Amino acid sequence: MVSSRFLQDKSTSLKKELQFLKKIKTEEKYFLKKSKDTIAKRTNQMKETKNQAFDTVSLWGLYGRDDMKAFKSVTLPLFMSTTGGPFDSLVDGSLLLSYKTIDDPNKAYTRIDNQNPDHLAMKIAALEGLGVPQLTQGICTSSGMSAIMMATMPFLQSGDNFVSSNRVYGGTQQLYDVTYPKSGWQVRWIDKPWILSSWEKRIDKKTKFLFVESPSNPTLYIADLEALSKLAHKYNLPLIVDSTLASPALTRPFEYGADIVVHSISKIANGSCRAIGGALISLDKITTNIKSLRENFANQVKGGHFRNMGPCLSPFNAQIIWDELITLRLRVKQVSENAMNIAKYLEKHPKIEKVNYPGLISHPQHKIAKRLMKLPDGTNAYGHLLSFNIKGGLEKAKKFAENLDFGVQVTHLGGSYTVWVHNATTTHGQMTHDERKAAGIADNLIRYSVGLEGVTDAISALEKALNKV
Ligand SMILES: Cc1ncc(COP(=O)(O)O)c(C=O)c1O
Repeated sequence: MVSSRFLQDKSTSLKKELQFLKKIKTEEKYFLKKSKDTIAKRTNQMKETKNQAFDTVSLWGLYGRDDMKAFKSVTLPLFMSTTGGPFDSLVDGSLLLSYKTIDDPNKAYTRIDNQNPDHLAMKIAALEGLGVPQLTQGICTSSGMSAIMMATMPFLQSGDNFVSSNRVYGGTQQLYDVTYPKSGWQVRWIDKPWILSSWEKRIDKKTKFLFVESPSNPTLYIADLEALSKLAHKYNLPLIVDSTLASPALTRPFEYGADIVVHSISKIANGSCRAIGGALISLDKITTNIKSLRENFANQVKGGHFRNMGPCLSPFNAQIIWDELITLRLRVKQVSENAMNIAKYLEKHPKIEKVNYPGLISHPQHKIAKRLMKLPDGTNAYGHLLSFNIKGGLEKAKKFAENLDFGVQVTHLGGSYTVWVHNATTTHGQMTHDERKAAGIADNLIRYSVGLEGVTDAISALEKALNKV
């Protein structure tokens, strides 16, 4: 027979358990509400940026007076720590790590979230979102390559394919040609990406997205983003654009129908040449034949592939780039002016076979560039990068490289310093000769990234080197 004492004890412990569960529920409610409020505040801040000028957004981003008061700092402090925290309670920690509350980078492990990359992502997302009514969201990654991986992998399963222009950075070509096939993902290269029907022919039931790099490195192909996004959407696919070379100061691909934008922010986003980084920005709603990815793409990646694979951006690098973005438009305007002068000078030079620069009327997609490449005030500018072919083939290109005594010969671009390189032997050296030929990278091609130095110095150094060819 069960004693009444036993029943009394049992009822007391049940009561205690119920009280405990009630306390947890109340706490959960509190943190979930707090999270919802933070997300709502962020959403409002993102909405407010829609009415701001490019320069205001590139200066402040989403770091407002409330943050200044909280952190007692006029500029975003550096959160150089592996971990934020501490959690307010066990419930707080459990909700945060189960991704039910993702609002507070202060408390997260830096692989997952941290104030500096978070603020950087919001700033770039806001800049990319200027000019379109939809809200944007983003994540920053350890490099441009990892941003491309994070933007593309979530769409792919074994047996799937995607269609891409073959005018892409050498690293992207290697990723798609060498690494992705190991997972059963097939790239379908388009050799003449300016022919729209050639894209359409390669789309089938297993196609998951279209990918384009525009302007392309190093041949400066400019994609008709409007036409490509229309084509992608006709097949319920997203258009992913690598817009590294343009940066949001020159082209905001969402205005032309893109769904996802990726950047190597190691480049013009960050003139200092001090930090490697990447960014993936998506519209809040994208077109895709994968239902689960239609909403909140970048945030989903943050809680999925990004968190699980670990390509996080160092807070230190993030803060360098966040600061560099403050002068993005000014730098882009100046290097574009310099580049235009250099391109015009080179085009007239008798030892130059061809100049690739979207600002030149001779550029095959100049009309498209004129439509797409504009500073925020609407004036055309065509960016820092140009490339040119030296008459006489590889030997003459080598001679030119031996004699150019200006800027630096390195595999980089977009910094405030002039840098240049011979692509066939460096950036695209991993490609076969035939692959390079198909991608328009001849043996006599020089890629030249225009810096902020006085343009007359740059031109007189080019003149000297060309005289010796
Ligand atoms: C257009 C473009 N996309 C992506 C990348 C890769 O960026 P990262 O070097 O930051 O990984 C590069 C690098 O040169 C690039 O030029």
